[in-house]
Amino acid sequence: APDGQAKAPPMGWSSWNKFAEHIDDATVRAMADYLASSGLRDAGYIHVNIDDGWQGRRDSNGVLQPNEKFPDMKALADYVHSRGLKLGIYSSPGPRTCAGYEGSYGHVAQDARTFAAWGIDYLKYDLCSGEWFYSDADTVKRTYYEMGAALKATGRPMIYSLCEYGRFDVGEWGRSVGGHLWRTTGDITDQYSTMAAIGFEKNGNAAHAGPGGWNDPDMLEVGNGGMSDDEYRTHMTLWAMSAAPLLMGHDLRQTSPAMLKLLTNREVIAVDQDVKGVQGRAVYKDGTTEIWAKPLQDGSVAIALFNRGESAAQISFAPADAGLESLKSIRDLWQAADLKVGETRFNVPAHGTVMLRVRGQPLSRNL
Ligand code: GLA
Repeated sequence: APDGQAKAPPMGWSSWNKFAEHIDDATVRAMADYLASSGLRDAGYIHVNIDDGWQGRRDSNGVLQPNEKFPDMKALADYVHSRGLKLGIYSSPGPRTCAGYEGSYGHVAQDARTFAAWGIDYLKYDLCSGEWFYSDADTVKRTYYEMGAALKATGRPMIYSLCEYGRFDVGEWGRSVGGHLWRTTGDITDQYSTMAAIGFEKNGNAAHAGPGGWNDPDMLEVGNGGMSDDEYRTHMTLWAMSAAPLLMGHDLRQTSPAMLKLLTNREVIAVDQDVKGVQGRAVYKDGTTEIWAKPLQDGSVAIALFNRGESAAQISFAPADAGLESLKSIRDLWQAADLKVGETRFNVPAHGTVMLRVRGQPLSRNL
């Protein structure tokens, strides 16, 4: 049954894309400070997630300890909470995590209790450790169920992120094991080709997404430097149109003014977080052009015009792309400008995007 968490896709920051295993208490605190002072928290980015690399050994009672880079997890959680943020952590069902640290194998309920006692609010559970990755569907489902049930038994609400790369149709059963989001792909990298391959082709079955459970095409690379501003705008647009989790993955202290503006665009975030919870999808494809639509709660429709080509292109959209008979208003979300209703033809840069929110007269069902 839905537990009322993740009504909208989770938003925040995760350590992995930028820091990998080189993460420590001071860096996590610095990220929390930046989220609070920069306006990112107030734009919705409230999760601070420690990914792989925090784990130490188990004590004589089997209780998992953080390594020397995290002297006091409870104190860190208190610090993050005091800034109006939530703290996330990472583990794996097998004996080892993907980066070779101690996993939860044989200690599932114990680890769930340890996380709850520290004040953790979010767990990413990653299918790693050699043969574990290659287990059959039944084993994978059971293993995710086991931790989901253990988290519930702690009584502390925690968002549960399933990371098994979309295997065995996880979208079909992710909710039933207590999951609030589930990865649909392998790992993103800070390159347009990888990002586009995921965002356009591997963002999961839209029918599985909705309030309480979301397809997760992996964390954002915005701000890491490997893409142009147009490409990062496409990245953000694809994730917002897909109702994807928005977990930043760069060193927040190095956010440029342009990237801060991109990440905090309220109207774009509102499309991602819309309470109707519909994952948008392509309604038109022709060569390197794609038009996507995402119906929103207030009856308006988010429209994205994507140019996947290597040179600028003209892209037009028709009201029918938004399921509309005629248009009453068009707003350009990246320009933050209202357009004339007749303006439906756009010059879209290479690898770039135009994102709109349109209103109009719905198509008559009798047509
Ligand atoms: C896997 C996951 C990544 C990250 C690493 C950590 O590769 O897909 O997101 O969590 O493990 O080792």
